[in-house]
Amino acid sequence: MANEIQGQQDVLSIPVAGTPKPSNSTINTEVPRIDGRYKTTGTAKYTSDYNLPGMVYAVPVCSTIANGSIDAIDTNKASAMRGVIRLYTRENLPKIYRANATAGSRLDEHRPPLSDDKIDYAGQYVALVVARTLDQARDAADAVVVRCKEDKANATRDLAEGMVEEKLRQGNKRGETGPAFEVAAVKVDETYETPIEVHNPIELHASVAQWTGQKYVLYETTQSIFAQRDLLAQMLGVPKEQVQVIMRYLGSGFGGKLWPWPHSVLAAAASRDLNLPVKLVVDRHMMFKTVGHRPQTTQRMRIGATLDGKLTSLQHDYTSDTSILSDLAENCGMATPVMYTTPNLMVRSSIVKRNVGSPTAMRCPGTVPGIYALESAMDELAIKLKMDPVQLRLINEPPNDPSNNRPFTSRHLVECMKLGAEKFGWSKRNPEVGSMRKGDLILGWGMAACSYRSNRGNCKATVHLNDDGKATVLCGTQDIGTGTYTIFAQIVHAKTGVPIDHVDVQLGDTDQPEGPHSGGSWVTGTVLPAIDKACEAAIQSLLGIAVQTPSSPFHGAVSNELAFTNGVVHRKAESESSGVAFADLLKRAGLRAISGDGESAGSFQDRNAQAYSSHSFGAQFVEVEWDPGIARLRVSRVVSVLDVGRVINLKTARNQVEGAIVMGIGMALFEEAIYDQRTGHPLNANLADYIVTTNADCPIIDAIFTDFPDPIANTYGARGCGEISLAGLAPAITAAVYHATGVRVRKLPVRIEDLLTADAHSLTA
Ligand code: MOS
Repeated sequence: MANEIQGQQDVLSIPVAGTPKPSNSTINTEVPRIDGRYKTTGTAKYTSDYNLPGMVYAVPVCSTIANGSIDAIDTNKASAMRGVIRLYTRENLPKIYRANATAGSRLDEHRPPLSDDKIDYAGQYVALVVARTLDQARDAADAVVVRCKEDKANATRDLAEGMVEEKLRQGNKRGETGPAFEVAAVKVDETYETPIEVHNPIELHASVAQWTGQKYVLYETTQSIFAQRDLLAQMLGVPKEQVQVIMRYLGSGFGGKLWPWPHSVLAAAASRDLNLPVKLVVDRHMMFKTVGHRPQTTQRMRIGATLDGKLTSLQHDYTSDTSILSDLAENCGMATPVMYTTPNLMVRSSIVKRNVGSPTAMRCPGTVPGIYALESAMDELAIKLKMDPVQLRLINEPPNDPSNNRPFTSRHLVECMKLGAEKFGWSKRNPEVGSMRKGDLILGWGMAACSYRSNRGNCKATVHLNDDGKATVLCGTQDIGTGTYTIFAQIVHAKTGVPIDHVDVQLGDTDQPEGPHSGGSWVTGTVLPAIDKACEAAIQSLLGIAVQTPSSPFHGAVSNELAFTNGVVHRKAESESSGVAFADLLKRAGLRAISGDGESAGSFQDRNAQAYSSHSFGAQFVEVEWDPGIARLRVSRVVSVLDVGRVINLKTARNQVEGAIVMGIGMALFEEAIYDQRTGHPLNANLADYIVTTNADCPIIDAIFTDFPDPIANTYGARGCGEISLAGLAPAITAAVYHATGVRVRKLPVRIEDLLTADAHSLTA
């Protein structure tokens, strides 16, 4: 092919891991989930599996209009129905306060539920029925009559209407894009659109709330037990010590369960008012309206370049939609200033308020639609330049973060692209549209690069070494299906030698030491240093016990002459085979357990955060098969290479990448919540009409990690991989679709109709 990838022959000489893998540990190997057995046998208790004695059922009454106000609610018929215990409207609902989100928390729907007569979106809760059974509550909710004054709903698809400009964010301007773009030798100026996407985790949102007389015990579908506790305490008007939030297992969240939604506080308020446990499950239809979605975006990309492909100007102007009750702006420009070298750059944003439910974070928030626009424009530029798209990215690789001139803690995007090209067989690509065949099919090959900011928060953890030789680790964070239980056990095993199946991991309860939310790929980098320190502290206490206990063979020794290796205390001068197992020492000392606490600070307190820029990187290579005879498009093959530092568990990490690829195919080809312009209702608010990727749509997936530990990010060199694994998929797919068909789709999802145009390449062409 014409455009050889520069330096591709260097692929195999990529340096291996910068730090050696710890011996006697499972780190960076494939470890099956320790909670897998509970999930596959149905014994893992998800939120709606909690059934408390005397529990009753709550069902919200949802607004059928998207804009207007309530004149009156007729509850007479519903209240008299069998099984109904109480019917709440704003007249009789106990006071719910406004919450003020603090550091580390957010509330996407600002107004407390049922607090006024205003209706701002279809599906908004206007009343709440509590009954003995779910069916009784549903029937009564249907019988409530709400009389409204309806105003015209704004569910416009054209985001240019009603646009509000936002402030320019830090790092989003360098040089002057206007004149630089004007004189650029090669230009791309295109607009890209992404629709509202709905999270749709299999597990429905749910709350099981109980007021015990002293405190609220709340079982919640949440990715953030502490944010849930703090914000609900404010809304319920009690000290946070009177709220305990529990979440042992989550059937995924994808960001939709990061922050509290109105149903939770309604269930809690009702449980106290009635002095009964209350279960409220948000049904699938309501989940399209009341628990968040990824905002719609329109993004104009202007890229100027020299004839040899050096970027001279990059301007990214975007608009996202939000609700009347939210100010959330989709941060589409997050990765744009970081990806490529260009002397002139500007990223500007604006929002449009509409009569829809409040949007929220959805996997790789902001960056995913942003990367779709940026990387699509880069692909279009490569075509104009007649340059290989990998090569275009390689020659614009920055030496350090161009948005702030700081060095990256670790950046191996070049290696991702080279390794991905190698594994995919990219050098065999013929860049001519429609030129690659497989029988009656036309093949399209596309690629994209991506990055996502790496974060680290504050965290506390506790480790107990027990006299039965087992260990317990406690940290109030969540496993949202990603493998958190398992990697915690791996760290304790690595530090203490306790076998993984003898490590009891306890998480998901606000009575535990405070850990981070499970979102934004925060958990791995945040929690591991705290567990590491907790293990160290427990070991130090154990060595103290070893020298103080009269029946210990080390009695009277100095503790710093002792070492702890694989669960055994021994003299440093002697091998561990001469030592004593910690369980034995604890028994001699008459102790049930010895404990250690660990703490790690977030990047905001970390001096490194001022000196470095920390991001993860990746490259995705995609093959599509286009069958022009029957207008069938399939993603047939994906190679994903991610640079996420040291991967702790290759099995669960790869599983996340596979899930993200499935999600990325949905974003590119299927997913879109379509709003009726007349009523403001999402028309396809169910899993029959809102199309998601199925098993039959899944390609052959090769999920690869570069394994360059990031020692500045944290002790284990690990950054999270949940978010970055989705970025880059959609633009790689649309690039492949272009390569197969000659049709550039700039408005997601790609529809078959888009490909049935006269321009589309066919086998007879
Ligand atoms: Mo993810 S949007 O940070 O749960």
